[in-house]
Amino acid sequence: MTGRRLRIGIFAGGRSAEHEVSIASAEAVLRAIDRDRFEPSIVYIDREGRWRLPTAEAPRLGAGESLARLLGAATPAEEVVRLREHDDHLPASLGDQGALAARSAVRSLGDAIDVAFLAVHGPYGEDGTLQGFLELAGIPYSGAGVLASAVAMDKVVFKDLMRGHGLPVVDHAWFRRSAWTREPEHVVREVAETIGPRSIVKPARLGSSVGMSLVDDLDALPAALDRAFGHDSKVIVESYVEGARELECGVLGNDDPIVFEPGEVRSTHAFYDYEAKYVEGLATVEARADIDSDLAVQLKELALAAYRAVDAAGLARVDFLVTADQAFISEMNTLPGFTATSMYPKQAELAGLSFTALISRLIELAQERDR
Ligand SMILES: Nc1ncnc2c1ncn2[C@@H]1O[C@H](COP(=O)(O)OP(=O)(O)O)[C@@H](O)[C@H]1O
Ligand SMILES: [Mg+2]
Repeated sequence: MTGRRLRIGIFAGGRSAEHEVSIASAEAVLRAIDRDRFEPSIVYIDREGRWRLPTAEAPRLGAGESLARLLGAATPAEEVVRLREHDDHLPASLGDQGALAARSAVRSLGDAIDVAFLAVHGPYGEDGTLQGFLELAGIPYSGAGVLASAVAMDKVVFKDLMRGHGLPVVDHAWFRRSAWTREPEHVVREVAETIGPRSIVKPARLGSSVGMSLVDDLDALPAALDRAFGHDSKVIVESYVEGARELECGVLGNDDPIVFEPGEVRSTHAFYDYEAKYVEGLATVEARADIDSDLAVQLKELALAAYRAVDAAGLARVDFLVTADQAFISEMNTLPGFTATSMYPKQAELAGLSFTALISRLIELAQERDR
């Protein structure tokens, strides 16, 4: 061995509702990262946005150990149980003296790590804010840059951009909280006229299906809007695609990205909601979908076109809603679920990249982009 190992700060937690999911992804990265090449440490951001900087290499986790326990946070499954009772994500507990506000963290971070490996999903992690912070700090980071992260996070802007490129997306309307507060009748009328009675109402810039509702008739719309506005000041109402299959394609690379074969998610719930995503047995993730090759080719082309349109880098997962006669691009995740059993790593594995090799590749892509 020559030289020291590259110091990789695995970013975990964050201020979003996907805090617990993020820790699960970070744990998977910590377990699989190639320790011959890299020296991993954990940069933990708690629910209030305080940073805990690494003071040493992260320990190797044993079979019975979990990163969530080590950090004093909850697991996604525990969060599901709590959400059934409260419908709101609580701050993770943290009795830590070493926690720093973001502005103090920037000074020390540059000394502690060489490359940031981001496993922070949702707002303040996947939306370009953390990426901008790392740009300012001069620290290379995995995945998409500021612009692509922000565009992919905002379901309204993303759909408008797709439409601008002639790419297929479902019809939508969107509203600010102020409009909903001031003129609710106007909002309901606009949905009735442009979308119709059956819709899906979502916070515009969240993830993991938090705050989403399926609306069957207009009477149910106000409650769905109230719920979504509880999570975001901007809400999107999409026309509901009946009986759609959910197919997903991972994309990997910077200027010359490759695309993985489509996979499929099947959920036992009306839609792929938070519980279905994180409670074992409620959904199945098939890394390779059983579809005909024409459709596979079409989806792969759409995934690459979407990736280029938002100017993504590193990785993204492009999700589709597919009916018998149409394929819609539903959304792009620039920080897709990243445990060893998540869709993206499983697709990479089928393409010949082990989870460990995938992590190494993403670190190389981060360095490439930095140069
Ligand atoms: N327009 C739609 N028609 C039918 N189902 C939808 C639609 N939009 C979302 N869904 C369902 O809701 C789930 C979550 O929506 P999505 O837009 O992917 O939000 P998130 O960013 O929270 O994952 C999807 O996986 C799908 O099951
Ligand atoms: Mg989704």
